[in-house]
Amino acid sequence: MKEQENYRESFDFNIALIGFMGVGKSTVAASLSRMFGMKTVEMDQAIAERERMSIPEIFETYGEEYFRERETELLMELECEKSTVISCGGGVPLRECNVDRMKKNGYVVLLTASPEVILSRVSLGNDRPVLKGRKNAGAIAQLMEERRERYEKAADIVIDTDGKDVLQICAELAQKLKSIKRVKNNV
Ligand code: S3P
Repeated sequence: MKEQENYRESFDFNIALIGFMGVGKSTVAASLSRMFGMKTVEMDQAIAERERMSIPEIFETYGEEYFRERETELLMELECEKSTVISCGGGVPLRECNVDRMKKNGYVVLLTASPEVILSRVSLGNDRPVLKGRKNAGAIAQLMEERRERYEKAADIVIDTDGKDVLQICAELAQKLKSIKRVKNNV
């Protein structure tokens, strides 16, 4: 409990969770928000609510570029937030301007998992247009590899989630945040 109070005090910045589809960003965001009393913004959900359409419908009706613009627009608005966990759509760090925005008032945390784990999580449901016709381990591994460099470049912290439960992931994240904060603040 004491530890959690300490963490809560220190989380006066935003945490942007990035990573491939199905890596567990939403689950980790919900847990972080409960543990540390932070607000949560689910980017996909916020955009879908504004547009009054599901993400696949937005892609279908207006195209991917329109969706990417909505992501950038939303991030601009979130620059004013504090103590907020932002659960980013998997494509958000692909634009450098988005990464700059996330870093302005927060830390960027990359969650990773193996292609097999990702596949098992995304195989049900048709809510991810980018994976249409690509729901197999080979295609997922290839897309992950295409994005890897940009994900890693954006990240202040990387957490491999394979074999860990959500509480372990949150505890690891809190520890890593504390140590990079110390480095950043020179204490
Ligand atoms: C996308 C990831 C999705 C959603 C959209 C595009 C991507 O979010 O933003 O379907 O390009 O990786 P999740 O990562 O939450 O699935």
